[in-house]
Amino acid sequence: MAQLATIQDIAQFADSEVTLRGWLYNKTDKGRLKFLQIRDGTGIVQGVVFQKDVSAACFENAERLTQESALVVTGTVRQDDRAPGGYELGISDIEIVQIAEEYPITPKEHGIEFLMENRHLWLRSSQQWAIMRVRATVIRAIRDWLDDHGFMLVDAPILTPSSCEGTTTLFETEYFGEKAYLTQSGQLYNEATCAAFGKVYCFGPTFRAEKSKTRRHLIEFWMVEPEIAYATLDDIMDVEEQFVSYIVGRCLEERAEELKTLERDTQPLETIQPPFARISYNDAIALLDKSDDPLPWGEDFGAPHETHVASQFDKPVFVHRYPAQCKAFYMEADPDDPRLSLSVDLLAPEGYGEIIGGGQRTASLELLEQRLCEHNLPREPFAWYLDMRRYGSVPHAGFGLGVERTVTWICGIHHIRETIAFPRTLGRIYP
Ligand code: 4AD
Ligand code: MG
Repeated sequence: MAQLATIQDIAQFADSEVTLRGWLYNKTDKGRLKFLQIRDGTGIVQGVVFQKDVSAACFENAERLTQESALVVTGTVRQDDRAPGGYELGISDIEIVQIAEEYPITPKEHGIEFLMENRHLWLRSSQQWAIMRVRATVIRAIRDWLDDHGFMLVDAPILTPSSCEGTTTLFETEYFGEKAYLTQSGQLYNEATCAAFGKVYCFGPTFRAEKSKTRRHLIEFWMVEPEIAYATLDDIMDVEEQFVSYIVGRCLEERAEELKTLERDTQPLETIQPPFARISYNDAIALLDKSDDPLPWGEDFGAPHETHVASQFDKPVFVHRYPAQCKAFYMEADPDDPRLSLSVDLLAPEGYGEIIGGGQRTASLELLEQRLCEHNLPREPFAWYLDMRRYGSVPHAGFGLGVERTVTWICGIHHIRETIAFPRTLGRIYP
């Protein structure tokens, strides 16, 4: 009796007979010899059907199979260094589950709009499959690291009465006659829960009605946000460099095959270890002064500025103490220069830009009230948030890491839209 197996475990079954349940990825026909690329969700293996070794019915089934037909195959696992993955399957039986209609995505090149329209099918392609496997490992590494370092998961709501990251990118909806918004960040809630539980994180989808169509922006993306009571700006930079190094390390360890499929040069990732360089916004402005893209003091970086600053370093680089005017209302003021905020962004190397934003939050009720005013934010929906400054206000700090930006960088791919199963992008909500 053949054993039911999966392709990722196929090495354990060398020389024995297994049954695989999957789909036909591709087929090469050499007359009496047919090579079937079979995928089962865990990997791809080459199956060989040789007319003289199989029944007439089995051979006929191999003939009938179209791309993406569903099948159950039985055969003997053979080690073969020439086969992709090192093993192939000498097929003895094929059961057809369904013959697929003519499949729209063929091995030839397709335009991006066509592929996005067929995202539900595109996910089966080996590159997309590899990216999603890296994503799953990034998420698992995130949870493992935080859970193992004393952070408690306390998720924040998705429907909220107020904005966190400015009012220009809010998705508005109606909540039983009141205005409500899809969350841009769980941070404000984290500030409440860190006063209740010490070290916390929330991890979920966040929404930004970004009008920008860039290769770094999604409308819906996943963010993990740790927040720590009594932490300062320096403390969270220490946390971030440990955290990011661990995530990269786990991907190198567990997803080497997938990174190879993506033709990712892993050498630059091997060097990702603490410490990361820390430069101030003012230092970064000085660097930009010498580039083709100088930036007036007080403005936030655009993609070209981030790329230029990060290109001076092999590892991710922290840029801290941005002018208060270009950051959100909740940032703590720098005691050495009140024009500056205790904010910090982490810029990835190789042109991938900001992957983390964060900083120390203001502990002062007075400054917070002033900032709400300056940012034209209504006081009422923030009343609860002000309470944290009334009852045991302490220094506290945290950050948000964007999952899709991180996956884009680790996979070394061009566009963020391939790092989430069903991307929401400007003007596209299908499928
Ligand atoms: O820098 P951001 O806006 O920071 C916050 O939301 C803070 N409240 C987080 C915190 O301190 N708890 O966003 C954080 C990260 C960015 O560095 C980026 O990785 C990602 O979220 N991000 C996006 N990713 C994809 N598409 C977008 N439109 C994104 N906007 C932000
Ligand atoms: Mg940011």
